[in-house]
Amino acid sequence: ASSWTLPDHPKLPKGKPVAVVVLDGWGEANPDQYNCIHVAQTPVMDSLKNGAPEKWRLVKAHGTAVGLPSDDDMGNSEVGHNALGAGRIFAQGAKLVDQALASGKIYDGDGFNYIKESFENGTLHLIGLLSDGGVHSRLDQLQLLLKGVSERGAKKIRVHILTDGRDVLDGSSVGFVETLENDLLELRGKGIDAQIASGGGRMYVTMDRYENDWDVVKRGWDAQVLGEAPYKFKSALEAVKTLRAQPNANDQYLPPFVIVDDSGKAVGPVLDGDAVVTINFRADRMVMLAKALEYADFNNFDRVRVPKIRYAGMLQYDGELKLPSRYLVSPPEIDRTSGEYLVKNGIRTFACSETVKFGHVTFFWNGNRSGYFDETKEEYVEVPSDSGITFNVAPKMKALQIAEKARDALLSGKFDQVRVNLPNGDMVGHTGDIEATVVACKAADEAVKIILNAVEQVGGIYLVTADHGNAEDMVKRNKSGKPLLDKNGGIQILTSHTLQPVPVAIGGPGLHPGVKFRNDIQIPGLANVAATVMNLHGFEAPADYEQTLIEVADN
Ligand code: 3PG
Ligand code: CO
Repeated sequence: ASSWTLPDHPKLPKGKPVAVVVLDGWGEANPDQYNCIHVAQTPVMDSLKNGAPEKWRLVKAHGTAVGLPSDDDMGNSEVGHNALGAGRIFAQGAKLVDQALASGKIYDGDGFNYIKESFENGTLHLIGLLSDGGVHSRLDQLQLLLKGVSERGAKKIRVHILTDGRDVLDGSSVGFVETLENDLLELRGKGIDAQIASGGGRMYVTMDRYENDWDVVKRGWDAQVLGEAPYKFKSALEAVKTLRAQPNANDQYLPPFVIVDDSGKAVGPVLDGDAVVTINFRADRMVMLAKALEYADFNNFDRVRVPKIRYAGMLQYDGELKLPSRYLVSPPEIDRTSGEYLVKNGIRTFACSETVKFGHVTFFWNGNRSGYFDETKEEYVEVPSDSGITFNVAPKMKALQIAEKARDALLSGKFDQVRVNLPNGDMVGHTGDIEATVVACKAADEAVKIILNAVEQVGGIYLVTADHGNAEDMVKRNKSGKPLLDKNGGIQILTSHTLQPVPVAIGGPGLHPGVKFRNDIQIPGLANVAATVMNLHGFEAPADYEQTLIEVADN
């Protein structure tokens, strides 16, 4: 037997199809008017929760349980799906960058030495998300990096900011820009020519994912690299304040702008001989820009001018593509994932979501690895997402289509595991539109119903869970849980994820009648799910996996 062979489970049979359903952004919280899952009609998820108590439970989905620096860190899809798929807790990008900055190791590596070559005669460009959300990037890491590179010879620095409002409150961009401007002013006081050069809202400029809409990346390229944008300002603070004052504007969708000097010339296009660092540690929304910056062969949009640069990512974003080839901090080595084990043990696997979450159930699930482990045993299906809209205008998204694909995959008899991500609670939750999020939750629940019906028909097993909270709490609260008000007396809408736990429910006609959740695991989290799923397929998990959530009574 190779080291990939999983031992048989002593009590659980093989051969039962298993549906693994991940509801994105679906946490458990007090039932009130800001809990969209509670407000929505969700009879299927309700029945799981109110059914047998030994088949439904909560697990942690944030903080140290998913490899984030502290328990004040909300969960997110990258770390959530990594934990679900890998069955172990890895120190994640946020933490690894913290450590590399604290120890100074970030400045000793190949990546830093590579970009440093440009410090003498070129400009160092830092491109990334400007907030303290801790999901894709963190302001304090950018601050430390600015300090570090200045002390190590960078003479001219240009920062290309992407405003957030999605992992943090809308409107907070102004404060983050002020903080950054102050830091850059201080650097200028030390003789370093440091400025913000361009900007735009993350969802409209640069940070698309899974190739949903290349125009987003192109808008960023034009501003950051070419120095061209529809809006020109003398300062970033003025830019953000002015653009936010336009009707319906918000941080997530600010249009692209460039900063110009007194003669109207962009202060920071990327030129031959420059260095570029994309400062986000999280992969999904940096991969497309990384391709544009790194690939000689590229035709997703017309780059017009391709400067000869030294480019490094904060991390390597895709281990399989080795993208980018240079990076400042090594990513977590998420190896031996459950997906790889199961495929190598003969489990024919089907995975599906719509574009905006497709990589979550494939790439993230498989440890930030793109592609198949074994093409003959796997099929990954992407349902095209609507692009160019905010999902509150179409909150049902493609939940129905995803569920139908899963249903068909189960009924086909061709797959042992059918895995989906249902994006609604998260993607609509991020818009901050409470009414639309209620519609979204209902749609996700209806999709679960279709999948559970198919599980019923094929005599299979289901495991329904979520990657982190979002839709269950749409208001910013004080420490005692009371909703916070804004200046005008309205509630402060919470567009971000939460710190809430998420459900895990198991069942289906194929589930051995003696299976129940254990109650001897101290604080279970998402990483305990992988061993559980392996058990449901009739295997024991590898010894170093986090423990299974289930046990089997004798009859
Ligand atoms: C996003 O990228 O959309 C948010 O920052 C995080 O959401 P996700 O972790 O659910 O993808
Ligand atoms: Co989200």
